[in-house]
Amino acid sequence: MTDPSATFLLFGATGDLARRMIFPSLYNLLSDGLLPADFLIIGSARSEMSDEAFRAEIDAALQQFLPADRYDATTAATFAGMIQYQPVEAGNADQFAALAERIDGRLERGLSVYLSTPPSLFAPTAQGLSEAGLITPTTRIAMEKPIGKDLASSKLVNDGIGHLFAEDQIFRVDHYLGKETVQNLLALRFGNVMFEPLWNATAIDHVQITVGETVGLEGRVSYYDGVGALRDMVQNHMLQILSIIAMEPPARMDPTAVRDEKVKALRSLRPMTDETVKTNSVRGQYTPGAVCGQIVTGYADELGQPSDTETFVALKAHIDNWRWQGVPFYLRTGKRMPARQSEIVIQFKPVRHSIFGRDGHGSGLEPNTLVIRLQPEEYIRLQIMSKRPGLERQVKLDEVTLDVSLTAAFAGQRRRIAYERLILDLLAGDATLFVRRDEVEAQWTWIDSIIDGWKEANVKPAAYSSGNWGPSSAIALIERDGASWHD
Ligand code: BG6
Repeated sequence: MTDPSATFLLFGATGDLARRMIFPSLYNLLSDGLLPADFLIIGSARSEMSDEAFRAEIDAALQQFLPADRYDATTAATFAGMIQYQPVEAGNADQFAALAERIDGRLERGLSVYLSTPPSLFAPTAQGLSEAGLITPTTRIAMEKPIGKDLASSKLVNDGIGHLFAEDQIFRVDHYLGKETVQNLLALRFGNVMFEPLWNATAIDHVQITVGETVGLEGRVSYYDGVGALRDMVQNHMLQILSIIAMEPPARMDPTAVRDEKVKALRSLRPMTDETVKTNSVRGQYTPGAVCGQIVTGYADELGQPSDTETFVALKAHIDNWRWQGVPFYLRTGKRMPARQSEIVIQFKPVRHSIFGRDGHGSGLEPNTLVIRLQPEEYIRLQIMSKRPGLERQVKLDEVTLDVSLTAAFAGQRRRIAYERLILDLLAGDATLFVRRDEVEAQWTWIDSIIDGWKEANVKPAAYSSGNWGPSSAIALIERDGASWHD
């Protein structure tokens, strides 16, 4: 890690992500005193706009997207004073030169560039930066997803950046890694003595990872159609969660050690084939229904035409290594689910021998379950068996819950935007919570096997009414194995 970059340059500065997340995060960092003195933020996009007009837009965005008690006029004025705007279009050397002029004299104090543009602009933007002399060993570049739509195209995106930046200057963003609850998975696993000895095929029956969303397309038709839930959510966010759950303990909390272990787990994912996709995957697409009491239209209606894009996917994954042999990882994610709910469920095996009657039969003995709720609530619940009070001759057991609400335990702490952590780490040059090239490629290798399998076996999305947890085949996917989704 080095001194924090003195300049932050954002491409795509008039976009939705910038207004909702990136500027509010920068504001929060300023307000917590975490930005370096004399910090400069340059927003850049295609439209012509003055510094003043851009500052006014950002101020409006802060007022819209920050909680009312966070917005403070004095801090907002200081923040506005840090912001400049430079119109830049890919390929326009004069505009890149004007950008370089704004950064003149500051470059040696570090430049963090953030690409929040379509990926087709990543390489031309990097090229423009290079020609304007803005790439030095202390320049860092962060990229939003999607990094490609398959392994081959992700390599092209990575090559486009990689020939101008060294890998340790490249920060691939997966905003799930900025979430406290996702980082807390590392704390839970490696900051406690009691989980790790049980974290393997000897004690664990299966793992479930659910990321449910109530929203539909949200006006993102042009991005989402043809992409679908597998590429939009599983390739990145869900595989990041899976890799943290499945990885071996890293020797230390540093970018190399952590990412080495994650990539090993990702590379151990058993590829699917056109045979296994039929039993181990489900695609779904929402049709009209009701979500949280609201009547909503179907995907095809929102799109205005029929489509083969999945808005839901459920998978049964296998990790072929010593630790996880025979332990299925069930993943499901979808839009227009009954609830916004992301959680990880670690389902333990039954006790080896029941002293409470044959196999615990009649006693109420159930295997332990660990539920880690990532959002919207943040808690960890462990279902354990306890004796039901009473004088019956045969001991009766009931499940009771050890329940830790992280929100309550850390009640004094503000819930931060995931991007606050990520931007701070980018400025400081700490890549632990960013995705390394080999991780992205291992993710796409597995995802490609599923997409190829779907093509070969002609697997189309099954309809599910909005407000359900996907098509009924998603329930069958897990129930066939004698388990069920945790509700
Ligand atoms: C994004 C996806 O990466 O993550 C969106 O493109 C999805 O489709 C979003 O809605 C979910 O993020 P979060 O933080 O709301 O769970």
